[in-house]
Amino acid sequence: MTAVVATGGLGASSAADKALQASAAFWFVTAVIGQWAFLYYIAAFYGPSTFSGDFQAWGKNTLLSGGYRPGDTVGNLTFAAHALLAGIIAFGGALQLVPQVRARAPAFHRWNGRVFLLTASGLSLAGFYLVWVRGTGSGLVSSIAISINGLLILGFAALAWRAARARAFAVHRRWAMRLYLVSNAQWFMRVGFFAWFMVSRPLAVKGLDGAFFIAWSFGCYLVPLAVLELYLRAKDGAGPSGRFAMAGGLFVLTALMGVGMVGFTIFSQRILSGAPVGLPG
Ligand code: HEM
Repeated sequence: MTAVVATGGLGASSAADKALQASAAFWFVTAVIGQWAFLYYIAAFYGPSTFSGDFQAWGKNTLLSGGYRPGDTVGNLTFAAHALLAGIIAFGGALQLVPQVRARAPAFHRWNGRVFLLTASGLSLAGFYLVWVRGTGSGLVSSIAISINGLLILGFAALAWRAARARAFAVHRRWAMRLYLVSNAQWFMRVGFFAWFMVSRPLAVKGLDGAFFIAWSFGCYLVPLAVLELYLRAKDGAGPSGRFAMAGGLFVLTALMGVGMVGFTIFSQRILSGAPVGLPG
């Protein structure tokens, strides 16, 4: 009897582990597709306009509050560098988290890691300049929210770097995962925003877009960080039901993320094709 119970318990435990692993893999693959699609948008939208000096073209993105400003060469170039370098975050971050890449190409992992850390920190400093010196942004609360995002990036980058230097790899891995999430917060911002539109419109939820935007300015980094902590706790110490619950929750969140990715891709394709863009009313 004890053996049967023990075998049943072990079976549930290994099924829960598999479900958790599958949900993490589903999340990761979906995120990589979305981030590489974002990389394509960044390169296609900011590449030609920046290198031909046609900064006015940024006006096609009606979600930007003010990328281009006539006569502000320093501000325009800082914004161009900020947007283009974001491609490195979208491309390189996910590769750092793949165990096979770390194991088979450790030199690549180290160099890609250094480039990622420097780029994320540089983007944050450029972001502080854009928000607080140049005055680009969508109001005070959103400027505060994105600045906290920048401070978290700088803090997590320092902690991930320090742990790597000390060869404390388990600690390094956790700070690197947190850094990856907060560095991709501006992608989560867009994906979450479009998920909201795609879900709230059919449900006829009206009048809450502004409130959602403000809440999600903070949520775009706080929610992914909270989900990661729950995932790590479930993986390390939860029983089978806790791990199943976490796996189910992650599947649902990933599906929602996929919905937002579809919305953002349609929007960015319209920008790239020069079609008039506006948010669904
Ligand atoms: C590593 C983190 C970051 C990445 C990958 C990133 C990426 C981007 C990208 C791709 C854009 C252009 C958006 C578009 O075309 O839709 C953008 C715009 C912008 N970013 Fe960042 N960013 C990061 C961090 C920050 C931080 C920390 C700040 C502020 C402290 C900031 C401030 C801004 C501002 C003000 C804009 C222009 C927004 C507008 O005109 O409405 N960014 N960012």
